Amino acid sequence: MADKGTYYISTPIYYPSSNLHIGHTYCTVMADAMARFKRLQGYDVMFLTGTDEHGQKIQLLAEEKGVTPQQYVDEVVAGIKDLWKTMEISYDDFIRTTEDRHVKRVQELFMRMYKKGDIYKGNYEGWYCTPCESFWTENQLVDGKYCPDCGREVTKAQEEAYFFQISKYSEELLRIFRETPEFLEPEARRNEMISFIEQGMEDLCISRSSFDWGIPVPIDEKHVIYVWLDALSNYITALGWPDEPEKYEKYWPADVHLVGKEIVRFHSIIWPAMLMSADLPLPKQVRGHGWLLLGGEKVSKSKAAKGSDVIDPVVLIDRYGIDALKYFLLREYTFGQDGVFTNEVMLKRLNYDLANDLGNLVSRTVSMIEKYNGGFVPDLTEAGKCVPGEDGVDYDAQLKETAISAADKVGKQMDDFKFNLALEEIWIVVRRANKYIDETMPWILAKNEADKARLDNVLHNLAETIRIISVLIHPFMHTTSDAIRKQLGLWYADVAWDDAFTFEMMAGEQVKKGDAIFPRLDIDKELEELYAISAKAAADKGDINIPLELKDEIVYEDFDKLDLRVGTIISAEKHPKADKLLVFQVKMGTEKRQIVSGVAEYFKPEDCVGQKVVVVANLKPRKLRGIESKGMLLFADNVVDGKERVEFVATAAEDGNPVT
Ligand code: MSP
Repeated sequence: MADKGTYYISTPIYYPSSNLHIGHTYCTVMADAMARFKRLQGYDVMFLTGTDEHGQKIQLLAEEKGVTPQQYVDEVVAGIKDLWKTMEISYDDFIRTTEDRHVKRVQELFMRMYKKGDIYKGNYEGWYCTPCESFWTENQLVDGKYCPDCGREVTKAQEEAYFFQISKYSEELLRIFRETPEFLEPEARRNEMISFIEQGMEDLCISRSSFDWGIPVPIDEKHVIYVWLDALSNYITALGWPDEPEKYEKYWPADVHLVGKEIVRFHSIIWPAMLMSADLPLPKQVRGHGWLLLGGEKVSKSKAAKGSDVIDPVVLIDRYGIDALKYFLLREYTFGQDGVFTNEVMLKRLNYDLANDLGNLVSRTVSMIEKYNGGFVPDLTEAGKCVPGEDGVDYDAQLKETAISAADKVGKQMDDFKFNLALEEIWIVVRRANKYIDETMPWILAKNEADKARLDNVLHNLAETIRIISVLIHPFMHTTSDAIRKQLGLWYADVAWDDAFTFEMMAGEQVKKGDAIFPRLDIDKELEELYAISAKAAADKGDINIPLELKDEIVYEDFDKLDLRVGTIISAEKHPKADKLLVFQVKMGTEKRQIVSGVAEYFKPEDCVGQKVVVVANLKPRKLRGIESKGMLLFADNVVDGKERVEFVATAAEDGNPVT
């Protein structure tokens, strides 16, 4: 494989402030796909992610939980690492800003800026947004009190602080934005940054002294370094700058910092200015992506009672698998723009693109090779060539051309961070191959021995096309790629990008049908279950309190007519004439009586003996399929593993006692 040089890509380092939702995973999934893509192309890749663990927000969260900040971050960071493991994120390093290697290097960077004469001590008086950890002047605020980035209310900050004379670098920054536009993509973000600088930049406050969860300012231990200065430095501290410079020299400057649009300002203005101050090279590019809008519309009461979209990646991965989720995120959204996330859009994509288009192509092809050629991929022969029909189309040539030209097109889109269009290029091949099956109709060819050569070529071409697809999807869905390759009999061969350009590798391979790579989903059923999961999660967290939909209200006098008693089941047997009914003998204090109940599908009779039950004791007796029932037993409805069932509800009370 050609040595293409190095490629360094980073995600932001995440605040360990809450459970990560699907929106957080978007950036990491993109970075992972890019890292895998570059590795497959032969680059020596450095993919960095990590956690941003200092600052006021984290200190406050730890206080709320009654633990030390270190205890707090240790626990949350372990969860974040678990999530990336579940998502098979192929990072090369994970940096935590509380690690020694980071702390000492941030202090060194601070000292370089200080020695340059860019840092001075003063007093900060202004506004602070704790969730964003950002400083604002009075006239930057929205309506005098809200953060212009996140819209939340800011607090007043007044404390001694160190300042960075960032404005010294304004001109240089403007020059870069104008002369090297690729430094910041997309263009809309670049224009925002240019106008931000043109409005005039004040010196940046870079230390805090009103709390202590941070890296101490080396020359003044009463201060901790402003968390953004601390966090941004991770991109070089993880590389060992300056004391263990091997990786730094190899990978810096980074090829791309991938970040959400709201933190572009920090990455394309503050970070470059810090690097200029320390006389270090700037990253080659910052790319700002849009947001996934989650639960964007206001949820109506009835919808909330039913539940809303599940945004917990772990739940979604458990149900649909990691490849499905990654495919959806990369295929559905356009880099740089916001997009609405809903479970319904997701499920439809999974069904149409994965179960129908890709899944069917693989299973149909492998089955046909098994059925029509004993499981072996045939050789191509002259005799089997496509003879263009009335439409004049050489289907074989068209399929081959579509397949072997796709890799270059995918590569171009990837270099532009257009993940959705890269996948679309691959699906053009998938759909072309499905159409090829309809055009060539192998099942008709199989009926006539004279068509065997033609059938062989068709099967061969399909196998080659699927092999190419398995290479192309590898950076996005490596598990699925491997599963397809296993079915193609290629389990022994490493995936190589160059193999996507040839059409002559499959003859003689033995295929083997496996499970469907993506099962078809019943969308209505899935949605109902997802909503139920989210409603339960919200209620468990205490986030919702929505009145249940009940029958008409009754007055106390109506209720008082009921005589409810605790009973003990002393025997139970199947009703001789009705499968659904059990006949119980129930003891209530001094009385023994018979009650018939429709719960046979949920309990074995012997398991009921000894159970306590609530009995509607004054219900008029009636016969059920010939057997008298004096009263009624109450159970709780339940759902276990998706199946309806009922449970006993009464526990310890003495039988015969009233239930009031
Ligand atoms: N700690 C800072 C980054 C410091 S980098 C030197 C931070 N952390 S964060 O946890 O709040 O956000 C991490 C990333 O997740 C950001 O790029 C942010 O844009 C992204 N996202 C958070 N919610 C998101 C969506 N709903 N959609 C897409 N990305 C989202 O900022």
